[in-house]
Amino acid sequence: MLKTAKMLLVSTTATVFTLSSATAEELTWRNDIEPMIAANCVVCHGADKPTYREWRLLSDEERARVGPRMDTYDHFMSYVIWPATGAMQRRLDDGTNRGGEPGNMFVYLGKTDEERAENLKMLSDWLGAWNLNRWTARDDVPGISKEQLEAISAKF
Ligand code: HEC
Repeated sequence: MLKTAKMLLVSTTATVFTLSSATAEELTWRNDIEPMIAANCVVCHGADKPTYREWRLLSDEERARVGPRMDTYDHFMSYVIWPATGAMQRRLDDGTNRGGEPGNMFVYLGKTDEERAENLKMLSDWLGAWNLNRWTARDDVPGISKEQLEAISAKF
């Protein structure tokens, strides 16, 4: 029974890849995502910035001014998987999954609507799944499921 469920999930994921982009499976952090983050985000989220854990220790006021570090794969994934589960997707969503209101980092994805849409699609294809859920449910945001976590590919 468990095995059947797992196989179903695998085939669903494979279909998503095929539909979203022919090259989605080949997207990697090293070739595709890191350069985009370097160009658009590291000015505020680079190696000189506090890590997520350090950033959480700052006051609300300091946190509003300083962005946390996300220039390497491991730092970046802490805003996708854990501990800041879904923070990346909540901040970068174009509004589609946020009742029409884009996340406040969406604007930095590019200089034009076209570039922002392209980079958002690339990120979502690379992740293999795009959901805004938290680790633990809070307010109207549900907690992430094991199946949703397993659907994230994000090749290094
Ligand atoms: C001009 C500076 C600036 C740029 C450019 C910028 N950010 Fe941010 N970012 C911030 C600041 C400051 C915060 C903290 C304040 C806040 O939460 O909004 C932040 C917060 C975030 C958070 C929330 C982290 C958490 O755990 O709550 C994410 C995710 C994020 N940024 C992603 C990005 C991405 C991805 C890019 C590039 C596409 C980007 N940002 C570009 C300044 C920036």
